[in-house]
Amino acid sequence: MGDSRERLHGTWASRWTFILAATGSAVGLGNIWKFPYIAGENGGGAFVLMYLACILLVGVPVMMAEVMLGRKGRMSPINAMRRITREAGLHGRWNGIGWMGVVAGVLILSYYAVIAGWALYYVVKMSDGSLQGASGDEAARQFAALLGDPGTLIFCQTLFMVLTMGVVVAGVVRGLGVAVRTLMPLLFVLLVVLLVYSARQGDFAAAVDFLFSFRTESLTWTGVLVSLGHAFFTLSLGMGAIMAYGAYMPEHAPIGKTVITIAILDTLVALMAGMAIFPIVFGSPGVEPNAGPSLMFQTLPVIFGNMPGGLFFGALFFVLVSVAAWSSSISLIEPGVAWLIESKGMNRVTANLLLGFVAWLIGLGTVLSFNVWQGYTLGGDTFFDIMDFFTASVMLPLTGLFIAIFVGWIMKPGVVFEALGDDAPRTLQAWRFILRYLSPLAIGVIFVVGLYNKFFLA
Ligand code: PFF
Repeated sequence: MGDSRERLHGTWASRWTFILAATGSAVGLGNIWKFPYIAGENGGGAFVLMYLACILLVGVPVMMAEVMLGRKGRMSPINAMRRITREAGLHGRWNGIGWMGVVAGVLILSYYAVIAGWALYYVVKMSDGSLQGASGDEAARQFAALLGDPGTLIFCQTLFMVLTMGVVVAGVVRGLGVAVRTLMPLLFVLLVVLLVYSARQGDFAAAVDFLFSFRTESLTWTGVLVSLGHAFFTLSLGMGAIMAYGAYMPEHAPIGKTVITIAILDTLVALMAGMAIFPIVFGSPGVEPNAGPSLMFQTLPVIFGNMPGGLFFGALFFVLVSVAAWSSSISLIEPGVAWLIESKGMNRVTANLLLGFVAWLIGLGTVLSFNVWQGYTLGGDTFFDIMDFFTASVMLPLTGLFIAIFVGWIMKPGVVFEALGDDAPRTLQAWRFILRYLSPLAIGVIFVVGLYNKFFLA
């Protein structure tokens, strides 16, 4: 089976290639765009702490479980789950884990491509000089003009979808492997440069206070639910991406150590992005920490527009944001594409075109929610808000919960431990304990109370 999988889709050369690919999937718009703005909307410090706790107690254990399932099943998430349940004589309902993942992937990709399209647009915007010396107000005005223009938004969204599909058609290993290896380190270096600039030019102390001081009054249950959802989103969990990538992982590589490396890199990038953005927010009139999805697109142009050589660095930065989004978006579509190839006998091109078109079509709803459909809301939420909430805060945690229960309670411990590889026995015991008790309990409580609060008390 492993062989046929390899022939069908290709395979990673080593554990490090897997780390790179999984980090490429994890580090994306979630870190640079979403984390700072949801931290801003949910009051800062308390939210950040909840988010870190969710990464450690839920994200890391569930990620280990997902990689293990993928490596054991050695196929697309749907077929990997089928194979595992069939071999162990378990109920086929658990295959739903794979199905939910594939559906969530396409739904997330639908709006992910729209936002990534904004990043592409800003590559041009930084280069054409129109943001030279821009104030907070001016940057906000220019961004609002973009959102009000469906034609440009659709053009950029389509461009990004074409880029994504181009790589997935060519196969994941060679195209993305190379791009990620060179561009991710560059992104990291640029974040450091930005951070230093931002610390010198903006209000660094206010940013540190905002992001790291714990104010209980700003902690809400909806905020806790968003932080849980974001832990899944940022680590690409609960939707089969990591499972699909796990299927290409070398046989005995220790999953625990590998996953911790990925989680640390991902968290580091998110915190650095926050520390680059908030000093400028607090240092510029006209930009608020709770600006929402537009936050990054209003603050970074202010930094770059006022920095010597800033327009060049700005354009470069948005190229890298686009690349980070790109290496994530391919992992959103890959599980579904792999499944169509395996089970429906499609070739890569057709499978890609089909899923890509569906994601693009649904994405039009997100495009319009910023302009023409802005007035159509449900409980104050636009189409984009609803898609985001439903996928990130509902589908991903739910699938994560099922994965924790399946691996922690349903699969035999001996089978699980053997499948995990060469981590220390103690680490594995601790992991299993957390996965059986802490993770499901945390997801369950946060999920139920968070939803109740959002819908009945808001
Ligand atoms: N982890 C990505 C980010 O933080 O931008 C988003 C993502 C990619 C989520 C792939 C889920 C996924 F399967």
